[in-house]
Amino acid sequence: MEKPAAEKKIVVLKNGPFMVYGGIPLVRKIQIVSEKGEPLTWKKVETYQTGAMYRLCRCGLSKRRPFCDGSHVDSGFDGTETADSAPTTAREQTFPGCMHLLVKHDDYLCMESGFCGTRWSTMQQLVQLTDDGGVRGQVIGMIERCPSGSLTYAMAEGEPDIEPDLPVQIAATTDILSEGPVEGALWVSGGIPVERADGRAVQRGQRSVPGAAELRGPDADGEAGEAEVTMDNQQ
Ligand code: SF4
Ligand code: FES
Repeated sequence: MEKPAAEKKIVVLKNGPFMVYGGIPLVRKIQIVSEKGEPLTWKKVETYQTGAMYRLCRCGLSKRRPFCDGSHVDSGFDGTETADSAPTTAREQTFPGCMHLLVKHDDYLCMESGFCGTRWSTMQQLVQLTDDGGVRGQVIGMIERCPSGSLTYAMAEGEPDIEPDLPVQIAATTDILSEGPVEGALWVSGGIPVERADGRAVQRGQRSVPGAAELRGPDADGEAGEAEVTMDNQQ
């Protein structure tokens, strides 16, 4: 029998699920949206009972999501890790017009959870107004609720990015769309190490957003049934 690993880590199994070691807490978070459907924040609605080791679905076909129920086997799931594994610093750009802070975006990692705007304004527009402290705080709040790590910020050029102080946990997320709640990404926070199926460690920066891309399967373009993992607060 396999001995439980005390070390907290997530291992990608070839053409299979994410193997979670070390009793990492698993919760469900649901989007809170405005009456117009704008994502506002996350609410924890459930804490799952798990063992020290458990498997999380990566193929999107499990009837017991977020857990793997073995459906990937019958479906012939191809979980080849094909996404760009370059560090986010190789892709990120700074929005022009930021005042008193720098807002950077790596669009490759965006999973379209929609926390970065309102129905009236996009992040690109809001950063132009950050001379106002209220708008600056709004922008920072939006960035800190971005589960993908696509958005980051620093207070000045040359300063390190500021990360929200998130717990060591995995959150299965529920997105609220116009047609109703749907299963969202797995949101990994708190610096949990992740290994690819080939044994390589997922590369980390201030936030492990490159890992998010590496962990995506070959259909990582938001198709139904896609399972995504986002990595946050990996310092
Ligand atoms: S993942 Fe981040 S950048 Fe993408 S839509 Fe959501 S909040 Fe915006
Ligand atoms: S990875 Fe096993 S059911 Fe999805």
